[in-house]
Amino acid sequence: MMETLGRVLVVVPTYNERDNLPVIVERVRAAVPGAHVLVADDNSPDGTGEVADGLAAGDDHVHVLHRPGKQGLGAAYIAGFRWGLEEGYDVLVEMDADGSHQPEELPRLLEALAEGADLAIGSRYVPGGEIVNWPQRRELLSKGANLYTRVMLGLPVRDATAGFRAYRAATLEKVGLSGVESQGYCFQVDLTLRTSRHGLRVVEVPITFVERTVGKSKMSGRIMSEALWRIGMWGVTGLPKRLRGTPRG
Ligand code: GDD
Ligand code: MN
Repeated sequence: MMETLGRVLVVVPTYNERDNLPVIVERVRAAVPGAHVLVADDNSPDGTGEVADGLAAGDDHVHVLHRPGKQGLGAAYIAGFRWGLEEGYDVLVEMDADGSHQPEELPRLLEALAEGADLAIGSRYVPGGEIVNWPQRRELLSKGANLYTRVMLGLPVRDATAGFRAYRAATLEKVGLSGVESQGYCFQVDLTLRTSRHGLRVVEVPITFVERTVGKSKMSGRIMSEALWRIGMWGVTGLPKRLRGTPRG
């Protein structure tokens, strides 16, 4: 399966995840030994960047991208994807550092790509998908965000905000990253929309999302309001203007 897909890079954005990072990296390395890992750290005050450097020093499959400060999950992924595309990876995976996305389920996402998907989303809201240990209000927020997204954008995707995904490099090259302005979690919806609007194949694979036991979520009112207004804008304008011209890298 890995042979047909080529080289896989798992991008893990981090902000204050020093205790979670070594565990998740080890699990990725065990679950998909051929895959490389890129930690995209926003100069975490808790020293996650140094922890990442330590992991990279002992493993040639682990890399670190140090960023100057907290600029949001979306910005970290764009930087990580750019790095991966330049280095010639064929598949770019998104995975949280906190254990919510189980590396043991990554082979199923990769299988979906191997079977023809251009983007495979690890989905909580298709049959077989699950959420473990989320407080009810967080689950309501997430379901509400997905409902809002579906109504505003008409996207045929159950879990458009999901953060456990695998993209073909060709998919990211086609949709282009240069016009993406989303900084926070609405980055997920942004790229789902772009992928879908380019006529590419989005496949949802059921996953079990497990709420973190260590550290804190970075979800905030600011992240929510960015998602609300941007998704509303995309809905109203139908199609971001920058998508109408020729796609840029
Ligand atoms: N570099 C960087 N910069 N990393 C960040 C930032 C940032 O500004 N904000 C968050 N992260 C990292 C965290 O350290 C973690 O590894 C990952 O991004 C997810 O952050 P969490 O704060 O744990 O997210 P969550 O559990 O509340 O949200 C999850 O669900 C959302 C809604 O479905 C994630 O899977 C999101 O991707 C998803 O959109
Ligand atoms: Mn989390």
